[in-house]
Amino acid sequence: MPLATATAHPNIALTKYWGKRDRVLNLPSTPSLSLTLAPFAATTTVRWGAEADRFTLNGRPADAEEARKVFATLDRLDPRRPRCEVRSENNFPTAAGLASSAAGFAALVVAADAAGGLGLDPRALAVAARRGSGSATRSLQGGWVEWPLGDAPDGADSHGVPVAPAEHWDVAMLVAVVAAGPKPVGSTEGMLRTQATSPYYPAWVAQAPAETAAARDAVLRRDLAALGEVAERSALRMHASMMAAEPPFCYWAPASVAAMEVVRRLRRQGVGAWFTMDAGPNVKVLCAAADATRIAEELRGVVAEVVALHPGGPARVLVRGD
Ligand code: PMV
Repeated sequence: MPLATATAHPNIALTKYWGKRDRVLNLPSTPSLSLTLAPFAATTTVRWGAEADRFTLNGRPADAEEARKVFATLDRLDPRRPRCEVRSENNFPTAAGLASSAAGFAALVVAADAAGGLGLDPRALAVAARRGSGSATRSLQGGWVEWPLGDAPDGADSHGVPVAPAEHWDVAMLVAVVAAGPKPVGSTEGMLRTQATSPYYPAWVAQAPAETAAARDAVLRRDLAALGEVAERSALRMHASMMAAEPPFCYWAPASVAAMEVVRRLRRQGVGAWFTMDAGPNVKVLCAAADATRIAEELRGVVAEVVALHPGGPARVLVRGD
């Protein structure tokens, strides 16, 4: 039976996807711009033809909901597919608390396309990844990636598109690890609650397109201060929208606030560092690669662990075989 193995990196958004204008198609209410980050990666093998659909994640049978999403993704790629065996591993230290689903779904669609000999258009793969996990559509591309709103009713034009490759700009992303453990509110539930109840949500959606355009511009000009400022605004506005939801929720822990303060203090001292946060307590810090060691040392004063990431390449096939 044919099989293929593919790998993909996670990504961190500088302007955020938070809100779904179509829940079934998984279409965003806001455009976003991200950086694909190495060395973390998911590596996924798909065997096209097996006794039963089976999904193993990091060496263990995955739970039913994870398996359902994986096989629904394969059904969308090929409604007449045979049963498949999927094995996925990721090399993220669990403590880094980074969601692995973006890298996982990106690697999955690339591996399935190769294993099944489907020869699908890269845009179709990016759309299938989006339906598995929104941010996965950005992990198919390396480096700086935009996910536009698109306007096709079926969502065919809402997927990650490259802005600049990994080699474009020598930056680092430091992950200040605040806590692992289950999230109080998952990203889908958080988005839906915010859009249903937060009076700030319409303002969040309204400001997003101009901010993503400004972020793209800053990336193309390699203007770290401009990009950093947009990124902090986007993160703070996204978090403000959820703090104003009903019931309100907040992903910040005391150490998250302490890490944000370290970044602000460094900036007052003339060091170029800017933070962002996602649906969890970790703080991610964007800086020039040359400043990463010094900034990481300062962050270690307030958090237990700091992981340094750098721009990574696109999702790709590693092995094809039988
Ligand atoms: O792709 P999801 O459903 O895990 O949502 C990601 C949401 C954020 O990480 C908070 C923002 C983003 O653009 O990645």
